[in-house]
Amino acid sequence: MGQAMKVLVVGGGGREHALCWKLNRSDSVGEVVCAPGNPGIKREARCVNVGAEDVDGLLALAATEKPDLVVVGPEVPLVAGLGNKLREEGFAVFGPDKAAANLEGSKSFSKRLMHDAGVPTARFEVHVDADEAVDTIRSWGAPIVIKASGLAAGKGVIVAQTEKEAIVAARDMLAGNTFGDAGSQVIIEECLIGEEASCLFIVSGDTILPLASSQDHKALLDGDKGPNTGGMGAYSPAPCVTDAVENEVLETIARPIIAALKKKGAEFIGILYAGVMLTKNGLKTLEFNVRFGDPECQPLMSRLKSDLGEVLLAAAERRLDGVELEWEAGTSLCVVVSSDGYPSSFEKGQRIGGLDAVEAAGATVFHAGTAEKNGVIVNAGGRVLGVTTVAPSVKEAQTAVYMALENLDWPTGFYRRDIAYRALAREEK
Ligand code: AMP
Ligand code: GLY
Repeated sequence: MGQAMKVLVVGGGGREHALCWKLNRSDSVGEVVCAPGNPGIKREARCVNVGAEDVDGLLALAATEKPDLVVVGPEVPLVAGLGNKLREEGFAVFGPDKAAANLEGSKSFSKRLMHDAGVPTARFEVHVDADEAVDTIRSWGAPIVIKASGLAAGKGVIVAQTEKEAIVAARDMLAGNTFGDAGSQVIIEECLIGEEASCLFIVSGDTILPLASSQDHKALLDGDKGPNTGGMGAYSPAPCVTDAVENEVLETIARPIIAALKKKGAEFIGILYAGVMLTKNGLKTLEFNVRFGDPECQPLMSRLKSDLGEVLLAAAERRLDGVELEWEAGTSLCVVVSSDGYPSSFEKGQRIGGLDAVEAAGATVFHAGTAEKNGVIVNAGGRVLGVTTVAPSVKEAQTAVYMALENLDWPTGFYRRDIAYRALAREEK
């Protein structure tokens, strides 16, 4: 590696805080700039007030800053074509072009591609007509899954326990009430049962490098009850992802889908995130994302020992072949603290104290929905903090993170008390 590089990170959530934190600890990196960042990211990067979805503003920022590498955190700018546009200007970019980002941007495209490529996934139909959707729901019966095809900030999936609930969801989506244009096509899917895992890969053309496995808790409440959220906590590794499972995801899901995209002329550079379910009938793909998971990124970055800047630059420059990743042994675990009321409405602007004490107790606090008001950190979003630890065992990581959280001074801040319970049960066996 020559001179230490300048990296521009796009985004301002917990995922991007973890990326900036790790890049700032990479020997290859001299400076991290983040747009727009957040009060936590300010400790790791120079934050510039350009929104993560402002494609023109980001292009102008790149032209001024001249970064050696741009890392795009969220899906929205990727689906809008930020990757292409930056590459056209000659920048090294970690994040796929628009055509490849469609794997996340359009579930109907993604499901059809899985079908054509022989990638295992739940049985499905795509509908644009409400009455036809209702016919399918009635003929398949409940439980059944209804999905908006377009981007819906992680909220476009209804796992309906009754036909009635499914019909209401499908009709609302198709009428444009719930997700606007994103719901103009709905996917009706067979409901799968099993344990979920997040399998992420760094992809650069034909080279596919697996990251350590992880698992996310999508439900709001302990025991995986309550409504789905963007993710209330995550840990790595996920013990259900054995070496054999990891290899099967690589060979039967990741390789064929990347090859199918290439056949369509879409080269992939960035993160391929395969959300998978281990069912009684084998491994099935739930969804693809084209960026790091949030909150999975927080425990992954906490465990990664390799120089992140070097690895992402190698991927962006199509020379990933031969690169290997090193991970801390043991478990990393992230507990998300959310605003009371999330994922529905909540009050903003509440003072959050005790953050230094949480860190003094040995945890790393990644900021997501925070803001700074007169020098005080306040909540400004649904998911607010990702408190993360690394320890030799699941038990120790879990104990450490919850002990550190005792120091948090935010009376209405909400968090689950059981993150990693499945991994813990396996460890105790
Ligand atoms: P997705 O955004 O497609 O991953 O869906 C979000 C969440 O909904 C997943 O993490 C699963 O918990 C659940 N889900 C999605 N598809 C299915 C399915 N076919 N069967 C059961 N649960 C599903
Ligand atoms: N944690 C799930 C996601 O990032 O989509």
